[in-house]
Amino acid sequence: MIRDIQEVLFDESKIDQIVSKMAKQISEDYRAKDLLLVGILKGANVFLADLMRKIDMPVQIDFMAVSSYGMSTESSGVVRILKDLDNSVEDKHVLIVEDIVDTGLTLHYLMDNLKSRGALSITACTLLDKPDRRKVDVDIRYSGAVIPDIFIVGYGIDYAEKYRNLPYIAALKPEVYIK
Ligand code: IMP
Ligand code: MG
Repeated sequence: MIRDIQEVLFDESKIDQIVSKMAKQISEDYRAKDLLLVGILKGANVFLADLMRKIDMPVQIDFMAVSSYGMSTESSGVVRILKDLDNSVEDKHVLIVEDIVDTGLTLHYLMDNLKSRGALSITACTLLDKPDRRKVDVDIRYSGAVIPDIFIVGYGIDYAEKYRNLPYIAALKPEVYIK
């Protein structure tokens, strides 16, 4: 596994710093509100687990799983819901928790979709943002770090379902995914 890694971009302590800062801001902004964190599976699961433990107020969590990539490194633009929320978002403030926003197609779809379900508000937070690759404009309230257009893995984020368990975020060697 390690031999496929080109470079570590964010190590565990840097990630901890980024997530702590985001959680602090979210806690301040939503103080005394009914906040529902919606984690987007599977990529955001590690981030959500860390983020929620640093948020200093009661929150609820729920998950959606969507697919836009298949086994490739390029978004197809077609978003499919693989797993929907367990509970209604009605009368809740929803914060969508994403691992990476790349083309923006997934988040754009999710925000539109959840808006139609009667939430009090919908905002988004992402650990990583790749603005160079944006195809649709999306409003990201909380962004952990901006990264260039490179394919990364680790801390929940995969390539072809691998590398999610790496505790750091790293760039893969191009030969791993360019065949
Ligand atoms: P978008 O719809 O193009 O914005 O894609 C968002 C999703 O694509 C993210 O939730 C990730 O799961 C996946 N993704 C985007 N960039 C990367 C990457 O560099 N590595 C792994 N997955 C990525
Ligand atoms: Mg994803």
